[in-house]
Parts: sequence; structure tokens; C-alpha cells
Amino acid sequence: MAEETVTTKVLMEEKRVFKPPEDLVKNSNVWQWMKKKGFTDEREMRDWTQKNYVDFWDEMAQTYADWHEPYTQVLDWKPPYAKWFLGGKINVTYNCVDRHAKSWRKNKLAYIGYGEPQGEVWKLTYGDLYREVNKLANGLKSLGVKAGDKVSIYLPMVPQLPIAMLACAKIGAIHSVVFSGFSVGAYAARVEDADSIVSITIDGFYRRGKIVELKKQADEALAKCPKIKHQIVYKRAGNEVPMNTGTWKDVWWHELCANQSSECDPVFVDSEHRLYILYTSGTTGKPKGIEHAQGGYMVGPPQTLHWVFDLKEDDVWWCAADIGWVTGHSYIVYGPLNLGATCVMYEGSPDYPDIGRWWSIIEESGTTVLYTTPTAIRMFMRAGEAWPAKYNLKSLRLLGTVGEPINPEAWIWYRKNIGRDQLQIMDTWWQTETGTFAVSPLPITPLKPGSATLPLPGFGVDVLDDQGDPVPVGSGGNVVQTTPWPAMLRDFYKDPARYMQTYWEFYWKTHPGYYLAGDKGRRDEDGYFFIQGRIDDVLKIAGHRLGNSEVESAAVSHPAVAEAAVIGKPDEVKGEVIIVFACLKEGVKESEELRKELAAHIRKELGPLATPEAIYFVKDVPKTRSGKIMRRVIRSRAMGQDPGDISTLANPEAVEAIPKIV
Ligand code: WTA
Repeated sequence: MAEETVTTKVLMEEKRVFKPPEDLVKNSNVWQWMKKKGFTDEREMRDWTQKNYVDFWDEMAQTYADWHEPYTQVLDWKPPYAKWFLGGKINVTYNCVDRHAKSWRKNKLAYIGYGEPQGEVWKLTYGDLYREVNKLANGLKSLGVKAGDKVSIYLPMVPQLPIAMLACAKIGAIHSVVFSGFSVGAYAARVEDADSIVSITIDGFYRRGKIVELKKQADEALAKCPKIKHQIVYKRAGNEVPMNTGTWKDVWWHELCANQSSECDPVFVDSEHRLYILYTSGTTGKPKGIEHAQGGYMVGPPQTLHWVFDLKEDDVWWCAADIGWVTGHSYIVYGPLNLGATCVMYEGSPDYPDIGRWWSIIEESGTTVLYTTPTAIRMFMRAGEAWPAKYNLKSLRLLGTVGEPINPEAWIWYRKNIGRDQLQIMDTWWQTETGTFAVSPLPITPLKPGSATLPLPGFGVDVLDDQGDPVPVGSGGNVVQTTPWPAMLRDFYKDPARYMQTYWEFYWKTHPGYYLAGDKGRRDEDGYFFIQGRIDDVLKIAGHRLGNSEVESAAVSHPAVAEAAVIGKPDEVKGEVIIVFACLKEGVKESEELRKELAAHIRKELGPLATPEAIYFVKDVPKTRSGKIMRRVIRSRAMGQDPGDISTLANPEAVEAIPKIV
């Protein structure tokens, strides 16, 4: 568990409250529901749905999901395992695509995709999506993929990514999407761990005007993955790629699909059948495969999206995340498509060809609701308000943020410069594990900058001290979820012991069934949540999760490195940046060249996200007597703070040798 003490002093109190405008409230989806139910007060509604969460989710499951066979039991909760909608049969792709393609929505746009090269726009209607998904699903079947088989997907932000996911779900195969910014080592480890038999990738894609040759990386990875039988390659950038015919067979996407039927019957699966595995970082070097289920996913993502971002039939929704992360899974693919919404997607970098690109996309697409990260907002803030001011952003009616705590300054900038000083900002707190927003405003909620406000309807969230007692108002503690929810994680793939240990063990004695989120937080006198960061060693680089130990293991995989300790250093734009302290092997000389080589090595192992900001060579890293690296001590010392009592360390002298970096 945490080395950090979780009681944090509140240094800054943001006192302003931003009330929602009357017309937003009265026209909101949540208000309509409240009216129907006879609620007039938001707090009362939030409390009631929490107390009656099983009934609440039952109603939501009837509202948002189309069940092939109805479920007979809403919830079976045997901590730490929850099963939702038992007896129900469902198919996610039927819900997200087929039922719309067979309705008037067949000609409605599902995706408006923007390639990075200007002028390149991909428009897909629900009818198009239906045909493309079916062809690929049939293609997968022709390669022998069956329900329960795993498919790894290594694709950038092109419409083929959701198509590939939906094709898997249609036949009950389980996808594991790996962020296209991850490198060879990361893809190989995730393909291997998932036991995937098929890989789906692309020849290349565009990033800051250059072609990223993704298939090359995939090939290098697959050389270490003997279980892969086939790789499907989408042709996008036209760069030369060799087609493998050895241990695995490469096949072009267009050739595989050329003669496939555009009809494919959905495989209706049990509600608990796994929809996907998504690897995320934890406290050890090995990423954990979070499992999510088909049934819960047709309830949580659409319901939370419909209520929080208030999507209406004519909205144009832009969740500007990458589908390689959970945000994209839930809110670019499964949530919005279930609702039959129109989504914007963008392939490239926000600063290409200039830092006005996003605003030009909003103007062109008529985006009405924008959802992004504090890091992006801070980057735009730094570039200056003249950039958004050049574009017509009047189509926007609601804003959102996710991924890290947002500093009030960035919140205010976002509201003023993107939201015309009028728009409400939905600061949604959630995780790969939760699958959906868990603490978030609704369009009816008065906002406080920097606060994700209150637990959503149907969610029980609390802040406890280490003993399991609620903390007093204003003091910090551990964020916990007190009741299960439909889109929650189901397990770690092949590692139930770690699942138990990571989330449930900590409060097992006092509160069995309480989920430990791994975040520090506090609540103010109005019950508003302020999330303060992680209690474990998980970095948040530009809002993306990366384990300190993942970076450390990448560093020690370099032949010159004996040991490494990694800490996050606060950064104005990215939230945190990576600092590496590396001990070299006997006889290896320190040099600037080696420093560069090591940085490049880590980047190659994990991807550009993991590029260290700085590398320091040290003789030793501070450790406990049991050999645990004391990152907290290293961080304090490096940041020029008092490292506290270090007398119990195995090597207290190593602390002295850590350089100050600020
Ligand atoms: C952090 C991203 C503050 C938090 C959806 C959490 C946030 C981790 C917020 C999960 C927010 C996410 N305010 N912190 N609104 N949203 N976080 O799995 O530390 O990539 O535990 O999921 O991001 O990151 P993950």
C-alpha cells in the first residue's frame, strides 16, 4: 500500500460557485427523468439512487440496452466479484450499430473523422458502419476467430479502430486495444499476456506531418509472440511494408474483406461475457489486464454519457481522447454509439499544422460538446487565447474534462476562452477500472472549479482514513466506492489474486466489498469531492497512466543499468514528467552519450509518453531493508524537501547522494 501519508493539507480553497443556467437545467436529460420520477432536488435524487442502486440500475438497463433475452437477476454481489444482469443475453455491436442501421438513423453520421493531413475527412453513417463491421467480423471468422478468442488491436485514431473493436464484439471475441503511441516492448508484452491469436494494425499513420510506421513496430513485437496466427493490416499511409508469411500470416484488411458479406449475425452472449481487456498501469512493472463485460457496458457508458453530457439527437460529440485508453473505449465507441450519437475523431497532433487545429475542427464539424484533459487545456492556455479566438466556437454548448485533477486556473481559462464564459464544465472522475464516470457533475449541478462534485446517481463513493473511518470535512483520505456498479471491472486477466490485493484487501476487515480506488481525495462542507492524486506509485503523464516501476523495468532492461528509481516531477503543462535515477553496472562509465542512449531505450521500450525529462546517474538508490525502493524519500530529497526519518533504511547514505533537481 501507499508509502505516502494520505492526510493532505488543503492549500488552496476555490470558493466560486458556477450555477447552471436555467435553460440547460430544464432541457437536460437528467431533469426529464427527475420530473418523471417526482424529484425536484438534485441531492435528494442522488441520495435516493445511491440507496436504491439495484433498482436504479435495473431501470437504466431496461432503458439503454436492448436485451436479446431478458435478465432474471439484476445483481449477484459476492465481494470482490459482482455479476450484473444475470441470465440476460446481449450483443454490444447489435446495440451500438445494428439497431441504428435498421432504423431511420441508417443515414445519420456515426463518425466524422479528420485525418491529420488537412482536407482529409472520413464520414461514416450508421449504415456504413454496419457494413464495414460485418465484413471485418466475417473476415475474422474466416481466420478462425471464435467467441472468447482474444484479438490485439494496435491502431491509431482512424475509424478502422472502432470498426475492429465492434467486429470483435459482434462475434463475441475479446479485444485488447493497445495505444498506438506505445512501443514494441509494450505491444509484445500485452499481446503475449492476452493470449491473442490475431493482431490488427496499420501500415502507417500521420503524426506531426510524419508517417509513423506502425506495422514495423507490430512486426518486431509479434516476433516475440508465438500464439499469433494472423495479422490484419489496414492500408492507410501507403508506406512500404513487408507482408509476413512465417509464424504468423499477414493479410491486407481490404483483401480480407473484399469478398465478405456485409451481413453478419451477432453472437448473443451472456451478460457477463467479456467485452474487452485493457492493460493499465499499477504498482508493479507488469501492466494489469482489466476485464470488462458486455452487459454492463451497454448500461454504464450510455447512461452516464446521456446524463452527464446530456447528449441529444442532434449533438456532435467530441471526446478528444485516444481510443487506446479507457476514455475512448467508453466515450468514443461504446457509450455514444449505443445512443446513436455522432462523434468526431481526429487522427493527429493538436498542434499540427498549428495549435489552432482543434478549434478549426470544432468550427468545421459544428461540435456541440467537447471533452478533453487538463493537460490539453494547459497546453492551449500556454499557446494563448488568440488561437481559439480566431475560430467560431459558438456551436459548443457543454464542456468536459478528465484524467487528472484540473487546477482552477485552467478550469477558468477553459470556461472563458472555449466556453464564452458561459458554458458549464463537467469534471468527470473515473478510471480504467470503473469503466464510466463515477464522480461527476450533471448539467443541473452548481460547479466549483477543481471539483468533480458528487457521486453520480447509482454510485456510492466515500473518503476514508486508513482505519476505515470517514475523514472529517476538508481532510484528505482514500477514495473508495462502497457499492458495485454495472460497468465496473470484473477481474484482472489471469490474475485474480492481484485483483483482490489491489482493490479489495485494504478495507476487507472493516468494510468487505469496498473498492479502493487508489486516489487521495477530500470533501468540502458541501460534500464536493476534490481529487488530489494517487496514493500508489502510478504516474500521470499528460493524463496517461504509467507505473513508476514500468519505467524502472524499462530502464534496467538496458545492459548498462543495474538498478533504477523513477519519480514524477510536477510540471506546469503535463501534470507530471518522468525523472530517472539510474545506477550503472560495475565498470560502466557515465557519459552524456549513455544518458541519451538510455532515454532513447526507455522511449523505445514503452513509447514516446515514457520519454524521461531527465536522467541522473547515482551510485545507489534508497531502499528499505526488504529491498523496496523508497520513491517517496527520493522524491522529497530531489524536490528539496525534508525526506523525514530515514534511519530505518538499508542504506541511508544513498539519500544524501540523490541530487536536488529543482
Ligand atoms: C485520475 C482515466 C482528478 C485519477 C479515465 C484516477 C482524475 C486515474 C480525474 C485513472 C479527475 C481521472 N480529477 N483525477 N476528473 N479523472 N483522474 O485509468 O488519479 O487512465 O485514479 O482513467 O486518473 O486513470 P485512467
